[in-house]
Amino acid sequence: MDDAKRKAAEKAVDMVEDNTVIGVGSGSTVAYFIDELARSGKKVSAVPTSMDTVIRLASRKIPITTLFHVDHLDLCFDGADQVDPSFNLIKGGGGALTMEKIVSYFSDRSVIIVDSSKMTAKLGYKCPVPLEIVPSSFPAVRRAVREKVGAIVELRSSGAKLPPTITDNGLALADAWFENGISSPAESERKLKLIPGVLENGLFCDLRDVSVIVSDGGGVEVLTKPAQERNKF
Ligand code: 5RP
Repeated sequence: MDDAKRKAAEKAVDMVEDNTVIGVGSGSTVAYFIDELARSGKKVSAVPTSMDTVIRLASRKIPITTLFHVDHLDLCFDGADQVDPSFNLIKGGGGALTMEKIVSYFSDRSVIIVDSSKMTAKLGYKCPVPLEIVPSSFPAVRRAVREKVGAIVELRSSGAKLPPTITDNGLALADAWFENGISSPAESERKLKLIPGVLENGLFCDLRDVSVIVSDGGGVEVLTKPAQERNKF
């Protein structure tokens, strides 16, 4: 799938315009995007969504800015763990979901770069929804998530240390597993958002204008959802 990720990332770089400020997500597909952006020589400032992305952008000498400097972005680029036919996403496999959601929410347009294995008819089937949670709230959050959306929550383990995995924000990473997938992603996103102790969840159903660049390693396809009003929470 590496070839598919690289091809999709190359196509995404074609969409970058000189002298713009762009959001840059996190993950292995975004790493290809950053490398290709550096090769292109395009002049941009990037708002990174994780420490990992800061390090990669800096190593490729791409200028970095922050949300302290800009309160709105025209365009952001990111990967995804799953994409459904309505352009709903699961994100946060890399644990950067909170900053990724902030950056995409405040961008007029989001470009999601994926290999074809990420496309699915139904979100959440064999793919958990990441949660960033206040560590001491874990038992209460686990109970509330089971009651509100019927998912089983487990703390994420990184292998390098005892769980939980700690996010860039100093909170705990957990995963919500839905046994039969997610029937109403937008409703589940809202319900998870309303649970105190959950800073953010990895369902992204409320992006205003989304394009998905998908490659199977052969061709590259660009799927676009028309601009829409945001849901009123
Ligand atoms: C990180 C993310 C990533 O975009 C998502 O996990 C996909 O990663 P990859 O490109 O490595 O498959 O949401 O928080």
